[in-house]
Parts: sequence; C-alpha cells; structure tokens
Amino acid sequence: MTDSENPEIERRIEFLRKELHAHNHRYFVLDDPMISDAEYDRMMKELIELEEAWPQFSTPDSPSARVGSSPLEKFDTITHTVPMMSLDKGFNTNDLISFDQRVRKLLGNETEVLYTAEPKMDGVAVELVYENGGLTMASTRGDGVTGEVITANVKTIQTVPLRLQEQNHLLIPDLLEVRGEIFISKENFALLNKERANQGLSLFANPRNAAAGSLRQLDSAITAQRPLEIYIYNISDPDVLGTDSQAETLQTLKQLGFRINPLILSKARLSEVISYFRDLDAKRLELPYEIDGMVVKVDGFSDQQLLGATSRSPRWAIAIKFKALQERTRVVDIQVQVGRTGALTPVAHLEPVNVAGVMVSRATLHNEDEVKKKDVRIGDMVFVQRAGDVIPEVVKVIVSCRNGTERPFSMPFVCPVCGASVVRIKGEAATRCININCPAQIKGNIKHFASKGAFDIEGLGDKLIDQLVDKNIISSYADLFFLTKDVLENLERMGSKSAENILLAIENSKHISFARFLYALGIRHVGEHIARIFAEAFDDIEAIFVATAESFELIDGIGPTVAASIVDFFGQKKNRATIRRLLESGITFKKDKTIKGDEPLTGMTFVLTGKLETMTRPQAKKMIEGAGGRVVGSVSKKTDYLVAGESPGSKLAQARRLGVKVISEAELISEFFMQNSGDKKK
Ligand code: IVH
Repeated sequence: MTDSENPEIERRIEFLRKELHAHNHRYFVLDDPMISDAEYDRMMKELIELEEAWPQFSTPDSPSARVGSSPLEKFDTITHTVPMMSLDKGFNTNDLISFDQRVRKLLGNETEVLYTAEPKMDGVAVELVYENGGLTMASTRGDGVTGEVITANVKTIQTVPLRLQEQNHLLIPDLLEVRGEIFISKENFALLNKERANQGLSLFANPRNAAAGSLRQLDSAITAQRPLEIYIYNISDPDVLGTDSQAETLQTLKQLGFRINPLILSKARLSEVISYFRDLDAKRLELPYEIDGMVVKVDGFSDQQLLGATSRSPRWAIAIKFKALQERTRVVDIQVQVGRTGALTPVAHLEPVNVAGVMVSRATLHNEDEVKKKDVRIGDMVFVQRAGDVIPEVVKVIVSCRNGTERPFSMPFVCPVCGASVVRIKGEAATRCININCPAQIKGNIKHFASKGAFDIEGLGDKLIDQLVDKNIISSYADLFFLTKDVLENLERMGSKSAENILLAIENSKHISFARFLYALGIRHVGEHIARIFAEAFDDIEAIFVATAESFELIDGIGPTVAASIVDFFGQKKNRATIRRLLESGITFKKDKTIKGDEPLTGMTFVLTGKLETMTRPQAKKMIEGAGGRVVGSVSKKTDYLVAGESPGSKLAQARRLGVKVISEAELISEFFMQNSGDKKK
C-alpha cells in the first residue's frame, strides 16, 4: 500500500466530513443541534489534523474549509451562465395591483394568479454553484453579467452548505446554481461596530455595507470572523430540480440544506399579498435583519416562462419597496439636553426631513464620545435614521459635502439648564449635571413619574409639567398630589373643566401597584422589570427603607449595581421626605399580579386571524397579553397557537403547513381563561 492509499484514514475523513456537514446543517440551518459544541469541536479538530497529515485526501468542500484559506492578490471575475437580472420596482400597493393586472393581461386575462411574496433582504446578492453536490464556486452579482469570485469567503459562512443534503427521494443535480442574499443581522452589526470602535477602526454605515465589506476581503480568514448569514431565494435554471413553481422550489432547496427565509408567503392571492406587505412593513423594524421591501414572484414556472423578461428584469416579478428609514439632511445646530438623571445628551437640530412618513427635526448624538467618533459638526450633511421606537439618530456624516465652514462641537463645562458644574465619571459615557435641584432633572423626574408605565396620569403632559416647575408651583412629584383647582385654573391654556379633569386623573392614580410605584420613583437602574422583582420581594416601602445592599443582592435577579443604586436613593434624606409626602397624600397599594414569568401564558406565542366570535382582535390581544402571552402578526414555527375566527385567510394555511395548533376563540377561553385551566401549559 502506497502513502496515498490508506483506505482506513480515507474512510475516517469521509465519515467526519459527512457527520460535520450534517451537524452544521442541524445547528445553523435547522437551529436544532444534536451534539454539544465540544463534541463538534473535537470532530472538527480531528478532521483538520487528518487532512493536514494526509493532504491527498483534502477536498475543497470539506467542512474544515470554513476557517479561511490563503489570501488572494485580487478577485477573479466570472460571467454568470444565466445573467442575474434586476427587479422592476414599485413603491406602494397600487403598483402591486398594476403589476397583477399586467401579469393577468399577458397571461390571457386569467382571473387569478398565485404569487410567492418574500421579504426583500437588504444584503449582498450572490450565486452559489454546486457541482455533483459540492460547492465549487461562489460569486457576487456584480453588474448582473459578470461578478467576482468569492468562493473562499463564502465557504466561511456557516449557513452556506458546502455539500448538498442527500435525501433518499431527492436527486442531486450535476449542476445547481442557486441565488440568494448574504447579510449581517442588526444585532451582530451593532456588536461588530462596537468591537471596531474599541479597536479604533472605522465603523460600517449599515449592515449591508458591513456584509459587502466582509465579503470583499482578500483574506478569507478575516471573513471567517464576520457574522455573515445567507438566505437562498432562487435558482438560475428553473428546470434543474424538476419543480414547477417557486414555492415548490423553495421547499426542495430547503430539503437540500439551504436556508430559506421562514417568512415567505407561498401560493397567495393578490389580496393576501397586499396584507402580507402591510404586515411586513409594520414589523420590519422588529425583524432581526434589515429588509427594504417585498419581492413578489408569479409562482408557476410555466407562467413565468410565458411572461419572459425585458433586457433588465423579468416580467414575472416585482419588488415593492418600503419607505426608506434613512434620509439625508443638514445639521443646523447641536444643542445639549439634560435628562432626569442629569445626563447631558448632545442633540442634532436638523433641517426637517421626512423619514418613512415621520418628520424628523432632531436626532440624538448619544454622548460626547459618539460625537467625536462620528465627527459630526454643525453644518454637516448627515444621514439620519429611524429604527424602531427609538429616537432618530445621526448615522454618518457625508464628508464629501463639507466646504470648510462646518464647526466642531464640544461639551459645555456647565449645565446648560441650571449653570451648575458638570462631571464625567471615569468609565461612564455620560457627562452629568451634579445639581439635584436642576430644573431639567426635576421636570424629567416628574414626567417619568406621570408616564404610562408609572402613575399614568392622563392629561398631565410635558408642557404642563414644564409650566408647573417653571412657575415654582411644584418641585417634586409628591407636590402633584397637593395641587388645587384654583392654581391649575390660572395656568395658560387651562380652563375650569380641564383643571378638574387633571385633578381627577391625579386622584385616580393614587391606587397603584407597588411595582409601578417603585418604578415611578425614578431610581437609577430600576426599570419596570426590576421594580416588579422588588415588589415581589418586599411587602412595603418601610421594609425597603431599612434593608441593606447585601440583603438586596440575595434577591434573584438583583446585582450589585442595582443594589447600590437603591441604597443610595433611599439613603438620601430628600428622597425619603418625598416618599413620606407621597404616602401622606393617600397613596394606597394594589396587590401586585404575579411577576412576569409566572403568568399562565408566559412563553407562549399566539397569532390571531379572521373575525372572532365575541371579541375584537385587539380585545383578544389584550387578554392574552394580560396573562403573560405574546401576540404576533404572522405564523412561524415558533407560534404556539393560531386563534382563527371567520374568514381566516392565509395565516390558517401557513399554520397548517407548519403544524401550528389552530384553535377557536371559544377554545382559547376554555383552555386558558376558565377556572382551573391556568396550569395547562404546553
Ligand atoms: S429575486 C430576477 N428575491 O433584490 C429575480 N431578490 O433587484 C432576482 N433581493 O440584488 C431576484 N431579496 O439581491 C429576489 N427574496 C428576494 C430578494 C431579492 C433581496 C435582491 C437581490 C437583487 C435585488 C434585485
């Protein structure tokens, strides 16, 4: 037996590769690992050692190839066998309706066409080529005709199968070209940038740039460290898998081991696609990755073929784009705001700009370090972004727009509101005003006290609180409970009736849960969750007054920072006096409900669809959430129950496909809301 023949070693290498491919698939694609990370690492280590000792048995599709191979001088280019076309674009549901009309007309006025609707991923389009089941080449879309070869980089991505999954009934084609989108999740993007900031490296403007930059590394070992992911959405040759529709193709691709976006809607009518678009738009900010619209494809391949393509794009697909969440505008000033904790926040005042339907004229710059890092100057053109419920923020300066008149910003040495000194404690990002009587802090604390999660005093808005503090009528939240009608009546824009209403709202807020009360006090680090933990552990405020930091730390979920903050708060005479005044005003405590985590529907996810029998959907949502459950907009594998009423539509079909339990409103009530049913968890 020569050195290159060692059947035992070869078999072992073969075995390890197969196992590791399968475990990769389970871990990264199915999200359902079968072995521990340590076992996986041991197998990988053995494989790498064997391949190094026996290089003649190395193959380019080995799972060990993900660690990155030697750096390239430059990228080769290739011509795609089938051009990677672009998509026609629309911007609203009317454009979608016109598309449907066009499609039906071209197909000979069919009454109804079925579509797939998919999230339009905002990443980098790529093509992966599999020959005899192994990944042999990956390339970028480039100009659609030629792209760059990035095989070594793409191999480092864990969700890219290096070999296709062999399933008994599936034939692996000799040649399979799939297309999809490589992206970085929002969370990983934030972590990546944080790490880069720590290392003094330039920041990526958005997840798409980060993904593109990571794929364009000549050294694949760098790419291997980037948190890239993939979703596959197409094949270049519709005949190759023996499928006859987009929906079926996606199913087959999934069986072959590709990662397919679970939010894809299959074989849907126009009306369903329209509501899917609305749903998607409504939840886009909550999705873990960025999308910029929806792609709608005629489902049937024979229809696709009949429709054909123009020189640029297929006639069987359209991208409907959402309104952009980032816009360009100019910074006209940078001012400093003082919050209830005394933290000074630099805020960019902007030329007003419409960002996805909301006029934005201010954007936070977070703190001094952020302004420095982004080098935002007064007069700069910038990108601003809206993300979720958070306050708009300045993302990036457009440096090429500068003309030299821009002025840098520096943090003031005194509080802009009260003139007291400001300090920045070592290790903290915030600069703070040290005057506890600073009107900005007083106002901030009272606003927090009256806010929704706290005393929830209706009608007591920010403007009114500003007035009350500015006129020295109140100087703490306890003073709210001693306001009188004649004082309120004489304020600007206030009549006798509104004064009465406010007094009534204040009076009604006095019967409050202990958790809300603690949260309302505005203790640093005590958010709603921590407040609930405290309310569980202590019966009343007197018990908290006398407790020590050590005893707080014994409570599950309370760490030293929170403990120290609470001790500090209750240790201050002024705070104790304020609390006594609150109690004197007649505040009484409602018994707290069990804390989150112990409620009957905790951890369960529901989707509501169709017309329910007795309740409206918002009412049902409230009831489920009140019992600790979650209500989401669309059915996924993670959904526990679909509550279906009359005319349930596509969600019912989706639930059946995914094996999600479907129940009626009556069953919802009898299962979860009748006596003795509280323990009926899944
Ligand atoms: S299908 C001919 N599906 O959109 C049809 N494209 O303009 C080819 N994209 O750069 C594309 N998500 O990267 C398709 N679910 C999806 C997509 C998607 C994002 C991107 C694609 C390409 C662009 C097309």
